[in-house]
Amino acid sequence: MTTKISILGKESIFVGHHIQDEIVDTIVSTCASSTYVLITDTNIERCGHLATYRTKLLTALAASRPESRLLEYVVSPGEANKTRATKAAIEDYLLDQGCTRDTLIVAIGGGIIGDMIGFVAATFMRGVRFVQIPTTLLAMVDSSVGGKTAVDTPVGKNFIGAFWQPEYIFADTAFLETLPEREFINGMAEVVKTAAIWNEAEFTRLEAYAAQFRAVVSTRRADGSTDLSAIREHILTLVAESIRVKAEVVTLDEREGGLRNLLNFGHSIGHAYEAILTPQALHGECVAVGAIKEAELARYLGILSPVAVSRLSKCFSAYGLPVSLADKVLVQRTGGRKCPVDIVLQKMAVDKKNDGSRKKVVLLKAIGECYEPRASYVDDCDLRVVLTDETVVGKAPQADASTAPLTVVPPGSKSISNRALILAALGRGPCKLQNLLHSDDTEHMLNAVAALRGASIAWENHGETVVVTGNGGEFAATADDLYLGNAGTASRFLSTVACLVEPHGGVSSIVLTGNARMQERPNGPLVDALRANGSEIEYLNREGSLPVRVTCGRGLAGGRIELAATISSQYVSSILMCAPYAKQPVTLALVGGKPISQLYVDMTIAMMADFGVHVIKSTTEEYTYHIPQGVYTNPAEYVIESDASSATYPLALAALTGATVTIPNIGSRSLQGDARFATDVLAPMGCHVVQTEVSTTVTGPKGTLKAITVDMEPMTDAFLTASVVAAVAEGTTTITGIANQRVKECNRILAMVTELAKFGVAANELPDGIQITGTRSLVAPSGRGVHTYDDHRVAMSFSLLAGLCTAPVTIQERSCTGKTWPGWWDTLHTTFGVPLDGHEPAVAAIATTTTSKSIVVIGMRAAGKSTLSHWISSNLGFKLVDLDRELEQELGTEIRLFIKQNSWEEFRVLEAACAEKSLVKYGEGYVISTGGGIVEGEANRALLKQYMATGGIVLHLHRDIDATVTFLSQDKTRPAYIEEIREVWERREQWYHDCSNYFFYSPHCDSQSEFKQLHSSFNNFWDTISGLKPVQVPTGRSTFVCLTYADLADATETLAEITAGVDAVELRVDHLKSFVPHFVAGQIALLRKYTSVPILFTVRTKAQGGFFPDSDYEALEALYRLAFKLGVEYLDLELSLPEGLAASIVAASGFTKIISSHHDFGAKYRWDNVEWENRYNQATGLGADIVKFVGMATAFSDNTDLEIFRTAHAALPLIAINMGELGKMSRVLNTVLTPVTHAKLPSASAPGQLTIREINQIYTQLGGISPKHFFVVGEPVQHSRSPALHGTGYEILGLPHTFDRFETADAALVKSEVIDSSAFGGAAVTIPLKLDVMKYCASLSDAATVIGAVNTLIPTDEGLVGDNTDWIGITNSFIAHGVPQSISGSVCGLVVGGGGTARAAAYALHHLGCEKIYMVNRTASKLYEIRAALPAKFNIEVLETLEQAEAASPVSLVMSCVPADKPIDTAVLTKLEALLYRGKQHQTGFEPALLEAAYKPKVTPIMEIAGGKYGWNVIPGREMLVNQGVAQFELFTGVRPPYQAVFDAVVRD
Ligand SMILES: NC(=O)c1ccc[n+]([C@@H]2O[C@H](COP(=O)([O-])OP(=O)(O)OC[C@H]3O[C@@H](n4cnc5c(N)ncnc54)[C@H](O)[C@@H]3O)[C@@H](O)[C@H]2O)c1
Ligand SMILES: [Zn+2]
Repeated sequence: MTTKISILGKESIFVGHHIQDEIVDTIVSTCASSTYVLITDTNIERCGHLATYRTKLLTALAASRPESRLLEYVVSPGEANKTRATKAAIEDYLLDQGCTRDTLIVAIGGGIIGDMIGFVAATFMRGVRFVQIPTTLLAMVDSSVGGKTAVDTPVGKNFIGAFWQPEYIFADTAFLETLPEREFINGMAEVVKTAAIWNEAEFTRLEAYAAQFRAVVSTRRADGSTDLSAIREHILTLVAESIRVKAEVVTLDEREGGLRNLLNFGHSIGHAYEAILTPQALHGECVAVGAIKEAELARYLGILSPVAVSRLSKCFSAYGLPVSLADKVLVQRTGGRKCPVDIVLQKMAVDKKNDGSRKKVVLLKAIGECYEPRASYVDDCDLRVVLTDETVVGKAPQADASTAPLTVVPPGSKSISNRALILAALGRGPCKLQNLLHSDDTEHMLNAVAALRGASIAWENHGETVVVTGNGGEFAATADDLYLGNAGTASRFLSTVACLVEPHGGVSSIVLTGNARMQERPNGPLVDALRANGSEIEYLNREGSLPVRVTCGRGLAGGRIELAATISSQYVSSILMCAPYAKQPVTLALVGGKPISQLYVDMTIAMMADFGVHVIKSTTEEYTYHIPQGVYTNPAEYVIESDASSATYPLALAALTGATVTIPNIGSRSLQGDARFATDVLAPMGCHVVQTEVSTTVTGPKGTLKAITVDMEPMTDAFLTASVVAAVAEGTTTITGIANQRVKECNRILAMVTELAKFGVAANELPDGIQITGTRSLVAPSGRGVHTYDDHRVAMSFSLLAGLCTAPVTIQERSCTGKTWPGWWDTLHTTFGVPLDGHEPAVAAIATTTTSKSIVVIGMRAAGKSTLSHWISSNLGFKLVDLDRELEQELGTEIRLFIKQNSWEEFRVLEAACAEKSLVKYGEGYVISTGGGIVEGEANRALLKQYMATGGIVLHLHRDIDATVTFLSQDKTRPAYIEEIREVWERREQWYHDCSNYFFYSPHCDSQSEFKQLHSSFNNFWDTISGLKPVQVPTGRSTFVCLTYADLADATETLAEITAGVDAVELRVDHLKSFVPHFVAGQIALLRKYTSVPILFTVRTKAQGGFFPDSDYEALEALYRLAFKLGVEYLDLELSLPEGLAASIVAASGFTKIISSHHDFGAKYRWDNVEWENRYNQATGLGADIVKFVGMATAFSDNTDLEIFRTAHAALPLIAINMGELGKMSRVLNTVLTPVTHAKLPSASAPGQLTIREINQIYTQLGGISPKHFFVVGEPVQHSRSPALHGTGYEILGLPHTFDRFETADAALVKSEVIDSSAFGGAAVTIPLKLDVMKYCASLSDAATVIGAVNTLIPTDEGLVGDNTDWIGITNSFIAHGVPQSISGSVCGLVVGGGGTARAAAYALHHLGCEKIYMVNRTASKLYEIRAALPAKFNIEVLETLEQAEAASPVSLVMSCVPADKPIDTAVLTKLEALLYRGKQHQTGFEPALLEAAYKPKVTPIMEIAGGKYGWNVIPGREMLVNQGVAQFELFTGVRPPYQAVFDAVVRD
């Protein structure tokens, strides 16, 4: 049976199941044409659908229109094909086939086919007729209806299109049987959305069918199809209902004037998410999340009720759709990609619905109803609140005479909701429950009661009211298990109810069960009591817990029931509530000591009275109750009291702002302890409180609040609210009786003390309470704001205090209030008028940069643990602790002796205990160096793994094993090894690997300079893994060189030269002779020994042209993880790897940059092929940092095609080249990280590879680099080494520039002859012009401004820029000698001398991180001038006397800026020597270093003294000179020159 629906006045939509024949008949009989064209995609063709239609159409045509012909066209599936190009290809085909205006196009497919083919039809021959046969759920209910057609452009989806109505839309649900599950669910998002805006009845129906739908749709046959017969009617209805709504709306508003906007509910935010998460997340998935956010927005604006939001959210999840970006499956699919709020808002700004810059969003008013008949204007600030998880609270308005009193109804009390439900279900007649709290407990109880036919449940008032119509305590058995999830209260209350169930339809027992956690929760005492009373209850699994089987028909015997009630009052309430239905009147005696939570028992008894049964407390026996027989009479309406703990927040806000707030449903009659908060806490603090039996009103004082002393034992949950009120009260408030709050969601007492301190409020912990001294001057916490510990009460309390600050305060983890009051922020904003804004924290980096968590260092003995631990400690400013030394203290003797006297076993036990203690004791701010054997013990390994799991860094240090053996065999002070060292290593290797998350392999160092290189490469490693200074992807022309050695040990001689001048070096791991982790790590170590260039780690598979086995994914993944552990800067990840593997690698990449690569060795794809587009989308989807595409040129034009592709793909840095001789041009035109070869390499790694020099030369010839003229200006400059330095760089790199001397002391001449000359590229400025040239500069760099001198002139589009590179020369010289890039410990520097260089030196030392900079000079007055001229934060101290020098803090960095050709002033020298001596004694992570500014002679007197006499690390001036020139070279040309070569050129005499 086919349903027909009309749209725009024409009954053109058919909905049915298996209606192919009707479809074909209708087409052939009503649409006459000479040519019928079937267009579909390859997936649908593969499922056999095209063949079916071909056969049927051919038969029908042969019968009635034999002169007509049938054409077919099949396109590739996927959004990437929904392009103008595909459209053009189809049009070309139609033209080719001679199609005319009478052509009828039949589009069979999903939304992509429908949209695109519709657009073809709209424009072909100015429009031809077409028919839509939608094959996806989305297409049936959404895209096929309404006449919108479109194709995508690179700028955005659906930007080019037309409105073009099809002749017919045939929705045949039989297509859905072959539709993949995820696509099916995807379509459900539109179905649920449509019902939500227009059709509450359909929405309710959808809620009811969800579970069955999921079960059917997820069951698949071997061919992937599904059998829909069980839910056929349901599917037909939902398709028809959705279409009906859309058709109706479209008919009223075809061209989207307003009403049609409503269909866009969920899409304003959903589209923005989709733009970021596509193609990994599907449209419907993003719409579901978007719809929840938009519903939350409506709730925030006070338009939509919290119940409606939770219904919507439950319905989407029931159909398998995500409802938050944190959804596990979604996160997994999108590789955890973030949707930063600013980007989301930016994407929302281009929404077609918007008016100019104002955003519009569809606001729901209720399920099935919208707020306005169109999308509504919304403010960015409101959007920000719902889109972020941190809320910025502005100033709460203070009340005055004109402020109207407010009424707030907080969410219903959980305990009262649960009781009311059971009582109404046991009672007789209908009962309307108002303000019911929807929770897991209520939901499971409602389902169970309905399943047992004890009551019928209905919803009124948009789900706000639950109508329970009880059957007076009659329940009938069901064969289905009653599943209660983890709902504890439900399980207790229903256990007794189960005993009342009668057999039904042959079922004579029922089963109560729950999830795994529930199956551990205790229920024993209750079951014992019921069993003793004659009920038959059997534990099915574990004694004392669910699941249980309860025999039906036995009822409750009644009489005396004894119950142990020291564990849970819920046992008592459960029996009390069912007791009236026992065969005999019940006497319930609570035995075994004082029952827990009397208050809750009283609450149950009071509520039973509301339902007509009066319990009598025994006057003779303690803790004993008499319950009469009877049936509850349901009151027509029962208003559930609001949660009294929640109510404390609005009441406290009244206290704090002077407003009047009423809670209309909590009063003196309430049995909730926290109901006394107003009378017992706020009134004594000075508030005016009026409490009736059923309501509470608080008015804040006009003056100040007063401190109080109060025992809050009866209302412990409210102490947090009281604390924030006390924070502004006069005097010291003491709160006691709240010890239990230490073991809630967090240690709440500590949390309050800590967070209050951020507001400048003094508070301290008491043994069972807290003491708070109020302040009149609150300070707004800066930075990250209030930490909530994911505790709803902490968040709500501080949101109150935040409103009293003068500056806005950020509250983290906003959504934690969802536990009890999801709408709290909405109330705060809408009812109280507190301005809120959303905030998004910067993405948290890994542990070390955000926390001070200690670093654990493990590794074999002699692996360099102490040295490297030192280096880390100086990088981070952490203290050092050696576990072996800790242990020896504990043992009271040396480890070696202890083992001799005892045993290894005993030693390991004590070692483990000591390690555990130390990790706690030194948990923050330490580098913990461990003994080599720590991984031997199982307990230790578990400890280390645990440490990593909680975000800690465990660094494994390793050194070449041969070197270790040699070293250890000389050491006699440590215990002798039982086995050979090599065996030890072999045994431990895997353990070290498993117990560490970073790995540094030190090469063996033979010389001091190798050791320095090791130090600087370790610093690089540390900067990468810790995120202190991760590598920056170059933006300009840059290169990497590719190493294809089997073993780098064969190439050590040339590595430095080969890697000179490149921006990265690629290690082709697949070329190595072994892929064993240890070997690979050793290769990285070798690279680090000879070069500091960032490393690119590549494992090329055979399929992609390399040597690594194709599907050994396990080994591949292990190598990638090793690379991250080793802190490589870049990693090449092939796009042809399985998606899941790739996503997990990206997720684990830390600060390593990912290059997503794809190679087309077979020359299969030209650059306009959609394959590249798809790969590009895949890379962006994956979250890659860089894309690398390599094609194969078979014609020269492939290079021009590639340039078109390159221009159109600028979203990410793109490396795109063509291999082969014909492809060389693409290597020249590529900008970022072009792969290059080097003359010293044995062979190029890819055909057509060029050297940097060749590339630059060709690029110059092509006009890409224009020759520039550079100068060194000043007097004298005859001996300047700059021309040699720059000239050598140009020569090696193949740059076309020239560098000359221009000798003058006249700045005007520099202006007219140099700066104004044609092809002027820049100038190095020396004395005496460093100040004089400033007047020609349009701007000065920060360095030039602060140092007060210009040594570099650079012409730019914005005019001439004056810079100063002296400080870079200084900084880089220190860094090259092992000084960390940024020192975090407390390190002091010293500058000797008072000239211009001294200022540059101070600038450099400050930037290196020196806390204090001392200066000495022959004439101190010059130093005071310098100090005055430099920023105060440099913290400069002039040392005039020897006494001052001796009292100064030890210095670790010295820069000498005094002339070397004159003898040193003796006063200066004595001071310097004193400082050198003390500096050497002082421990920092690096060797103290002295840099000499003078470069002649090679070794100056100061260098001799510092190095020879005091053992300092001395750095000759030539290095500073070269480093300074190198910095200028980079500024001038944008590329880095090869250091060693230019160094040699400078020092060559
Ligand atoms: N015009 C509109 O008003 C409108 C509305 C919503 C969405 N859209 C557009 O619709 C497109 C998405 O449509 P979609 O979700 O249908 O995607 P789709 O067309 O890509 O189809 C989804 C996938 O399922 C396959 N497929 C389709 N039917 C199948 C079947 N019966 N059996 C097996 N496989 C089948 C397809 O080949 C494809 O791989 C987007 O481009 C979107 O912009 C348009
Ligand atoms: Zn949609």
